[in-house]
Amino acid sequence: MGIVDEVGGGVTLLKKGDRVVMPFNVACGRCINCEEGRSAFCTVVNPGFAGGAYGYVAMGPYPGGQAEYVRVPFADFNALVLPPGTEHEEDFALLADIFPTGWHGVQLSVSSNVRSPEISLYSRFWDDAQGFRPGESVVVFGAGPVGLMAAYSAIIRGASDIFVVDRVPERLQKAKEIGATPIDFSASDPVEQILKLRGGKEVDRGVDAVGYQAVTSDGKTEQPNVVLESLIRVVRPTGGLGVPGLYVPSDPGAPDSAAAKGYISFPFGKLFEKGLSLGTGQCNVKAYNRYLRDLIIAGRAKPSFVVSHNLTLDAAVEAYEKFDKRIDGYTKVLLHP
Ligand SMILES: NC(=O)c1ccc[n+]([C@@H]2O[C@H](COP(=O)([O-])OP(=O)(O)OC[C@H]3O[C@@H](n4cnc5c(N)ncnc54)[C@H](O)[C@@H]3O)[C@@H](O)[C@H]2O)c1
Repeated sequence: MGIVDEVGGGVTLLKKGDRVVMPFNVACGRCINCEEGRSAFCTVVNPGFAGGAYGYVAMGPYPGGQAEYVRVPFADFNALVLPPGTEHEEDFALLADIFPTGWHGVQLSVSSNVRSPEISLYSRFWDDAQGFRPGESVVVFGAGPVGLMAAYSAIIRGASDIFVVDRVPERLQKAKEIGATPIDFSASDPVEQILKLRGGKEVDRGVDAVGYQAVTSDGKTEQPNVVLESLIRVVRPTGGLGVPGLYVPSDPGAPDSAAAKGYISFPFGKLFEKGLSLGTGQCNVKAYNRYLRDLIIAGRAKPSFVVSHNLTLDAAVEAYEKFDKRIDGYTKVLLHP
């Protein structure tokens, strides 16, 4: 997020001085995926890989956004203009990634198994129009920035029961503060805890906001399949799983040789038996950021509750280390260049 300092010759919609926020995705705005609103999978900006992003390993030649200046390709398409001034700075900064990504996690968890008009007019209307039915129950694995935003989005979208699973006390506390039920997976099996709280009933939807770096209950060992496995157990038959959590095509540091090749073993037979839907992938930030901006302006969303620290760019290295170790309450850090 920043102020436009200079515009290139191909830019017509922006001017010097505009306050803007950029999706973490870099997208061309003209390919088939961009035209259909799937800007995370732009086929142009990063040939050979589905999509581009600033400063992230395989996602193209675009230097990161944590700097005094950033060059924005296809700026008319990518930049979202914000109201001038400094109001809502912390909230708007989260439009670059985690607020839309949390929203996307909930959106991805839509069940594609109840769309048929013969089954119910109600389900057809709500699934097609909104991708989420008010009153549905949701579990979110991971109470990092993305998981907390997914839980917050589910609340805004009218979810009934919202569970957030993690083992970091400060993060579980934030989940509690927004009205979700925190589930500490270091205490016992999170699926058993949720089923017990719901009198044996599974939940309608599940969001994986952890990804391949999921750990076992002692927090010491990576086990990339543990969250997917739990979601398949805890979501009701014909429910949906949304997976914004990152899974990578290869991971040299993975705990076993299959995971190193990006292969994850999970009970596909159970997923099939239950008729579960599975939605995955990077967030199409542009599909949501305009509307989420307007929720912020209208005072109906305040995602900055997740921000734990505001720091200068020089403090970034130390902050990353602490965030990585999840110590000293480093939940979400905003850097001010
Ligand atoms: N799809 C997208 O567009 C997109 C965008 C941003 C981030 N991401 C991905 O989303 C994921 C979450 O991002 P974040 O910034 O919130 O990360 P984070 O690392 O801060 O949060 C992950 C949380 O998961 C918890 N966790 C670990 N193992 C767990 C388990 N077995 N059960 C429940 N919780 C467990 C950790 O304690 C941690 O709090 C990452 O994989 C990130 O790369 C995806």
